[in-house]
Order: sequence, then C-alpha cells, then structure tokens
Amino acid sequence: MATPTKLYTFCSLLLAFLFPFSNSVQLDGGKVCLPEKHASLFIFGDSLFDAGNNNYIKTAAFQANFAPYGESFFKYPTGRFSDGRLISDFIAEYAKLPLITPYLHPGYHSYIDGANFASAGAGALVETLQGSVIDLNTQLSFFKNLASLFKNKLGDAETKTFLGRAVYLISIGSNDYAIPFATNSSLLQSISQQEFVDMVIGNLTTVIKEIYKEGGRKFGFQSLLPLGCVPFTRALKAGNTGACFEEITALAILHNEAFPKVLQKLEHQLNGFRYSIADVYTTFSERINNPSKYGFKEGKIACCGSGPYRGILSCGGKRSVKEYELCENASDHVFFDSAHPSERASQQVAEQMWSGTSNITAPYNLKALFEL
Ligand SMILES: *[C@@H]1O[C@H](CO)[C@@H](O)[C@H](O)[C@H]1NC(C)=O
Ligand SMILES: *[C@@H]1O[C@H](CO)[C@@H](O)[C@H](O)[C@H]1NC(C)=O
Ligand SMILES: *[C@@H]1O[C@H](CO)[C@@H](O)[C@H](O)[C@H]1NC(C)=O
Ligand SMILES: *[C@@H]1O[C@H](CO)[C@@H](O)[C@H](O)[C@H]1NC(C)=O
Repeated sequence: MATPTKLYTFCSLLLAFLFPFSNSVQLDGGKVCLPEKHASLFIFGDSLFDAGNNNYIKTAAFQANFAPYGESFFKYPTGRFSDGRLISDFIAEYAKLPLITPYLHPGYHSYIDGANFASAGAGALVETLQGSVIDLNTQLSFFKNLASLFKNKLGDAETKTFLGRAVYLISIGSNDYAIPFATNSSLLQSISQQEFVDMVIGNLTTVIKEIYKEGGRKFGFQSLLPLGCVPFTRALKAGNTGACFEEITALAILHNEAFPKVLQKLEHQLNGFRYSIADVYTTFSERINNPSKYGFKEGKIACCGSGPYRGILSCGGKRSVKEYELCENASDHVFFDSAHPSERASQQVAEQMWSGTSNITAPYNLKALFEL
C-alpha cells in the first residue's frame, strides 16, 4: 500500500489551517493537504460534552444559552451546561487543539480539528427525550455526513488515515438511566434492570462499530457518575431525606460493570481498536463525599438552581421554574447546576482522563491515545 507522504508537508499544514477544505487549496492534483500526525477530536454524547448544539434545535428544557451559564470563563452563555469549560473542552486544550465547535454552528465548516456532535439530554436510546434532543444515532449520521465530505475532498485512503488518527470521545447513558425516573416513563417497567442496561450498551456498541467502519480507531470514555447522588436526583427522590436515589445509582453501577467488558471484547474483535476508560464514578463519589479534600466547599448542593440541594433545574430562570439561587463562587461547588459539574470539577475529571494512572484511566489514558 502506498503511503501518501507527499501530502504531509509543512507548507500544506499552513495552508490547511488557513483555508480548511477550501477549493482554493489545490495541491497535489487537487487534493487538500493535511498536517503530519494531526490527531483531531470528535465528540459525541450528552450535556457533559454539548458545547452548544442544542442552541440550534427546538428544545425548551435542554438549553443553557442564558446567564449565568458561562459566567466564570467565557463571560457569556455559550450553551454549555457549566459556569465555564466542559470536560471535553479541557481535553481539547490538553491535546493542543482549539475548543471543538458544535457541528450545528451555522457558518463554521472547518473540521480539520474535529467536530462536536453532543446534545444535552441525549441518550443511547432514541426513546430518551425523543424529539427534544439529538440522539446518539442522529449524531452518528452527522458524523457520517462529515466522513463523506472528507472522502470527496481527500479521497478514501487519506480520509481513513485522518479519521484513524483522531480520538472519539463519547459521554452517553446518564439520561437513559435517570430520565425514566424523572418522567415516570414505562420504558424501565417492562424489562429487568440488566436487560435495560444491555439495551443501552447494545446501542452504544453499534455506534462505536459504525465509527470504526468509517476509520475511527481511538475511543475515549468515562464511567457513569453515581447518578442518584447529583442534586437533581436527590431532589427527585420522594421524601427529600437527602439520601441518594439508589435505584438510579444501581443502574449506573450495572452499566459501569458491563461496559468495560464490552470494550475488551471489541479490542479483540476489531483490528487496531484502542480505548481509554476513566473511572469518574470514583472521582465524583470522592468529591461529593469529601469536597474539602479536593478544594471544594460543597459537594452535594448545586451552585445554581432552586429547591432542595438546588436540585430543581431552574438555573437562569428560563425554564418552567423562574426563581433560582446562585452561589457566590462556582469554584466552591462540585456541581454548578442541578445535574452538571462546575468548571473546576470538570477540570479535575479531565486531568484524570488525560493523564490518570492506570488505576483510574485504563488501558490507555487520553494523552497516550492521542500520541498513538
Ligand atoms: C410519577 O409517579 C409518582 C407516583 O405514581 C407521582 O407521585 C409523581 O408525581 C409522578 N411524577 C411525574 C413527573 O409525573
Ligand atoms: C437499541 O435500542 C432499542 C430501543 O431503542 C432496542 O429495541 C434495541 O434492541 C437496541 N439495540 C441493541 C443492539 O441492543
Ligand atoms: C473562587 O474560588 C476559587 C477557588 O477557591 C478562587 O481561586 C477564586 O479566586 C475565587 N473567585 C472569586 C471571584 O472569588
Ligand atoms: C491511584 O494510584 C495513585 C498512585 O499511583 C494513588 O495516589 C491514588 O490514590 C490511586 N487512586 C485510586 C482511586 O485508587
């Protein structure tokens, strides 16, 4: 097989950055050049990674494009469910990439560094908040559109090389497990917990395999949080005793046990498949229960929201509940709003995903995956 070495020149690196996929860059017989060893970042999933895709869809409850979201870092609301940057933003920074732009952002078509398909509220199951979010399958179809665009511009072989160097970061499952309890959905009532978890993981696995088919090789994941111990689910639990909503955490634990086994299998089945999974369940449990050890003042109550634990998702007053409280300094809290970490907590998680030791992030950490 011929290696397309001619394409990877310094001059083409500059041109590709200045005029990404522009028709005016016509080197090497009309092909666009790619920088040598450039690993881009493709992001899929839910609100932990959504940098603003939901700003461009019709959805009432699952947007965060109003103050005080964004106040600590961007100084304006971007659509991120955070006071600042998300875990995926820090990963992009550590990889020396710019922040990865939402795929649906109009007028932005430079995908040389990757794209972000994540949508707040999304699940691996199409039924999860259907009609209000971009589910994982639709995110996959957006990625496939992009892969076709690359093939048109770069040709099949170079597209495979480009997509094979990239890292695919996926955060999904939390909504599949938590939302049925919030909406009294019947989805969980007809089957066993294990069957439900297998269905979520089955759909996620299908998406991983489809990305692999397009050329994706390096995948980054995090385990699910103790989902019943976020302010939103504590408040949801009848009686408001302050206890965690254990039925929801139980599903996260089942998921966290089963998914790594699937990844091990995929590593054997799919030639060249490499992955990283970080145990953020432990990371969050530790910070929720022992905040001061990690520099926080509060682990259980959100910075922004209303009701018990500020667990009602009213931050900003633009959803159904209009009153809300806001803390002095979001960095004091593990959670910024009822269901999402503060920028500071996200940074600590991102550090563990990026350079965590093998007892936390395995078999590769993200730094190692990018360097492969
Ligand atoms: C869900 O069902 C319970 C018990 O039937 C009820 O108390 C609760 O208000 C319902 N919640 C929603 C969001 O409909
Ligand atoms: C994917 O989820 C659907 C429900 O949305 C389910 O019927 C199907 O069996 C799941 N697929 C896999 C491979 O588990
Ligand atoms: C918020 O808290 C962080 C961490 O304790 C501190 O570094 C920062 O200066 C504080 N910001 C303000 C505006 O007080
Ligand atoms: C992981 O190992 C490091 C040292 O190698 C240690 O400091 C840390 O506490 C361990 N973390 C967990 C969650 O076991």
